[in-house]
Amino acid sequence: MSEKAPAIQLRGISKHFGKVAAISDVSFTVNRGEILSVLGENGSGKTTLMNMISGIYFPDSGQISVEGKEVSIRSPKDAFDLNIGMIHQHFKLIDVFSAAENIVLGIADEQYDLKAAKDKIRSTCDKYGFVIEADKKVYQMSVSEKQTVEIVKVLYRGASILILDEPTAVLTPQETRQLFKVLRNMRDDGKTVIIITHKLHEVLELSDRVAVLRKGEYIGTIETSQANESILTEMMVGKKVVLNIERSEPENPEDRLIVENINCLGRDGRRILSEVSFCARSGEILGIAGISGSGQRELLEAIAGLQKVESGKIVYINPQTGGIDNLRDKTPVQIRALGVRLSFVPEDRLGMGLVGSMDIIDNMMLRSYKKGKSVFLQKKEPRNLAQRIINELEVVTPDVKTPVSRLSGGNVQKVLVGREISSSPTVLMAAYPVRGLDINSSYIIYNLLNRQKKNGVAVIFVGEDLDVLIELCDRIMVISSGRISGILDGRTSSKEDIGLLMTKEQRGGAV
Ligand SMILES: Nc1ncnc2c1ncn2[C@@H]1O[C@H](COP(=O)(O)OP(=O)(O)OP(=O)(O)O)[C@@H](O)[C@H]1O
Ligand SMILES: [Mg+2]
Repeated sequence: MSEKAPAIQLRGISKHFGKVAAISDVSFTVNRGEILSVLGENGSGKTTLMNMISGIYFPDSGQISVEGKEVSIRSPKDAFDLNIGMIHQHFKLIDVFSAAENIVLGIADEQYDLKAAKDKIRSTCDKYGFVIEADKKVYQMSVSEKQTVEIVKVLYRGASILILDEPTAVLTPQETRQLFKVLRNMRDDGKTVIIITHKLHEVLELSDRVAVLRKGEYIGTIETSQANESILTEMMVGKKVVLNIERSEPENPEDRLIVENINCLGRDGRRILSEVSFCARSGEILGIAGISGSGQRELLEAIAGLQKVESGKIVYINPQTGGIDNLRDKTPVQIRALGVRLSFVPEDRLGMGLVGSMDIIDNMMLRSYKKGKSVFLQKKEPRNLAQRIINELEVVTPDVKTPVSRLSGGNVQKVLVGREISSSPTVLMAAYPVRGLDINSSYIIYNLLNRQKKNGVAVIFVGEDLDVLIELCDRIMVISSGRISGILDGRTSSKEDIGLLMTKEQRGGAV
């Protein structure tokens, strides 16, 4: 092992899944003590490549060297013995165990000395700036806390090379900032960090270098100081792309959904929505901004009939008849039948209302069979729909018959969001639809929302990126601690205006 040898050297790595060439002849170097971003469109092979370094998959051909020595990584244990630790998108923690128990789990000689383990955990946390409660059970933790436990777990086992697959997709901006701080501390301590993220501003802010993949091939590595968003996008896509969101004037807007003074309690009995009132109109995009967990989820679920409402009214005005329905009297199936659709991309993308073992066509049918149609009768319509979604959203898949579990994370999500958007709704609620999507696909989704708006749909869009909310939405409603702290005009409001309203309740301001 030479002093100057790179942390990881890949030479001619290839990996096929059946006919799909997920990774073709990829060679590049990861330096010691650097933060390297791996960037590429959905389905470009990022996760597959990292899974080969962490022992989940074995390459069909090519060599991997770690710290100058050629190695054969055949299992996660092999990777771990080489001090390589990967934090996957789906955490592998045991819910009923505490943080400390999860961290020491599987390390035989420390099984019974939890006290010593806790001391070591504390010193690891202090060293890099993590905060964890060693005795807290996993099922009581937020996503960000669980992620911290995963990271401490690999560090505890002595990892010097850390791989993180889209760690920020599910974090709030504040949590992301905290994560980046500890990642920088690790780098400064000589550790090597490889991170996958679709958010270009994060790539530019955090990494030292960026390696780009396109359709399974390696395009190149660029010093972050030499990069900007358009250079990176061009490397990823292979051509110059113009990304803009058009915003038309709403045509004949009509009140479609009127929410009046609703109150909801959360699972723990705390009040999670207080006196929420607003109106969603046809032909308009109403944005919802707020710190995540401020009641966005409960609000949309209340409208869809999935969350109990303590008091207040949710009125739906039928565009055909002009008739009025109180959605609180209806079941989720009846609400769907009225044309009210909810597409919520949750933090755990596995639980998104798709069945992994089923192909794309059958997943299209999952939504319609409750209307009483037999699943076995009509396959033509869902097949066409599946094909249309694949074409429009550029889903990377061999065909419509491929099980959803074989698609990359972002492509699974395109199928889900596509299904809800294309179901001819009258009210379309889309929450975090671009989580985990590459930049190009994100803009395709924004344009689809715009098309729905032109079709006269009342669109409600919950987003995280304030720049996008300002560009896309006609009105932006800001929610803070379960209250509406303001409704702004998208054409005239600024990020600062929205930011202030987002924290209004916390600062004790009255509505
Ligand atoms: N287990 C598998 N079986 C069959 N095909 C697979 C499997 N895993 C990945 N693929 C295919 O390999 C290609 C690369 O997928 P991968 O998950 O590596 O993409 P990615 O760059 O991580 O995308 P994303 O940004 O969406 O997460 C895709 O075409 C995917 O469908
Ligand atoms: Mg991936």
